[in-house]
Amino acid sequence: MRSLSGIQPTGRFHWGNYFGAIRQYIDLQTGPDASYYFIADLHALTTVRDQAVMRQNVLDAAMDLLALGLDPDRATLFVQSEVPEVSELCWILMTGTPMGLLERCHAYKDKKAKGLNADVGLFAYPVLMAADILAYDPDVVPVGEDQGQHVEVCRDIAGAFNHVFGDVFVMPKAKIIPATGRVPGTDGEKMSKSYGNTIEVFEYLKSQKKKIMGIKTDSRPMEEPKEPEGDFLFDLYSLFATKEQTDELAAVYRRGNFGYGSVKKELVQLAENYFAVAREKRKELESNPATVREILAEGARRARKKAGEVLRRAQTACGLR
Ligand code: ADP
Ligand code: TRP
Repeated sequence: MRSLSGIQPTGRFHWGNYFGAIRQYIDLQTGPDASYYFIADLHALTTVRDQAVMRQNVLDAAMDLLALGLDPDRATLFVQSEVPEVSELCWILMTGTPMGLLERCHAYKDKKAKGLNADVGLFAYPVLMAADILAYDPDVVPVGEDQGQHVEVCRDIAGAFNHVFGDVFVMPKAKIIPATGRVPGTDGEKMSKSYGNTIEVFEYLKSQKKKIMGIKTDSRPMEEPKEPEGDFLFDLYSLFATKEQTDELAAVYRRGNFGYGSVKKELVQLAENYFAVAREKRKELESNPATVREILAEGARRARKKAGEVLRRAQTACGLR
């Protein structure tokens, strides 16, 4: 079984990205030809419009993923734009993609609904994502719920191509990371860069602590028993705590007579311990950017080999070779 996924380098990764996406990539890595993960810079180009920022974001994304446990011996890690075969495949797929299919896709539809002008890149984004996927013959695509629609579009596009040109593409399945895994931000809403409520995985400890201690909690008296269910501080705590620690805190909530300040302090400590090894690893990588570039170059080499085979299959099927 082969898995493939991509993540956009639009800024430093936060806890939502880690628990909602990156952690499952790491759990799913079983071999360089069985697990493909890429940094989706061509997708990010629809929003990141600064050369220096783009370059830094891509390098940061690679270092973050490697520090968090992506292992180049057990997965192929690469940068999307370093596999030009995918862009070529994207055009082939575009020729058979109905406008209506893309008009229904939420990234474009939401922007349009807000009265904003969308460019062709955003409109065609699901086709590029289909090419990203189909180029590597994956069986499963682990993605957050928000990306499920795009994997469905990919299946539609693949089905339409196969119907006309024969069985060229393997039909992938989305592996949806459940919404129950939605990580709340410092304001209780979904943690997201666009809401400015994120806590970054590798944020300076001091700044991380300040954010956590600044989380707004309710002002009921300390003595009052509280329900842990639906309390976002409790949810954040549970991400890092053992089952025993979580059960213990739930009991404390229900008993009452506790201060949120102490819960926050514990959360600061748990998060620090949880990512301590990754932080060390990241420091090592930072002082060794050449190693990171080598890993990406090797990843791109492997990815191009596979994508080249699939592209040739598609070209042959439609008479381009
Ligand atoms: P952002 O909303 O910060 O821009 P992205 O949309 O780039 O994040 O998300 C990248 C990946 O991380 C996606 O797979 C997405 O489902 C996941 N993700 C983002 N935020 C969260 C969250 N708060 N909880 C769970 N998963 C998340
Ligand atoms: N669109 C995805 C996101 O914004 C990233 C992505 C691009 C992707 N290509 C992909 C994910 C292919 C899975 C498979 O999160």
